[in-house]
Amino acid sequence: MIRDIVVYPDKRLKMVSEPVERFDEELHTLLDDMYETMIAKNGVGLAAIQVGVPLRVLIINVPVETDSDDPQVQQPKENTLEVINPVILDAEGKTRYQEGCLSVPGYFEEVDRYKEVRIEYQDRYGKKHIIEDDEFLSIALQHEIDHLDGKVFVEKLSIIKRKKFEKEWKKRLKNR
Ligand code: CO
Repeated sequence: MIRDIVVYPDKRLKMVSEPVERFDEELHTLLDDMYETMIAKNGVGLAAIQVGVPLRVLIINVPVETDSDDPQVQQPKENTLEVINPVILDAEGKTRYQEGCLSVPGYFEEVDRYKEVRIEYQDRYGKKHIIEDDEFLSIALQHEIDHLDGKVFVEKLSIIKRKKFEKEWKKRLKNR
């Protein structure tokens, strides 16, 4: 089921999400719905709070290179990384990347991130895993983990860029 996306500056996006304790049917439905919602909105990552659920759950699906325009081919369900209760074990180096967010639709800006991260997390069955990356997935993980801590990427902009953004965003929300 496609769920509604919480849009900035909704206060729920400031919530610190709670750890998942039960790896049950309800969690699996949430994960399945998050995938459907992300695909419907052309996203590559989504945190549970973005569909209004304050749990430490996020998904990422990095599109594969293909000639097909079909999202099911570009981002098949089986390629979805389901990350529950993530803990950053290591973060090193620096990089900059132009980010976007389904909760701030249509806005893109460069953000400073760590280049490389090592993260421990649980899958939908509660099994622990470790993942390491120094490319796009690293950035996506950092962006989504920020959501679990109540942070949206626009809050990482410089003061000047942030002010400009807030002004433009208010205008855009008014005209919706
Ligand atoms: Co986001």
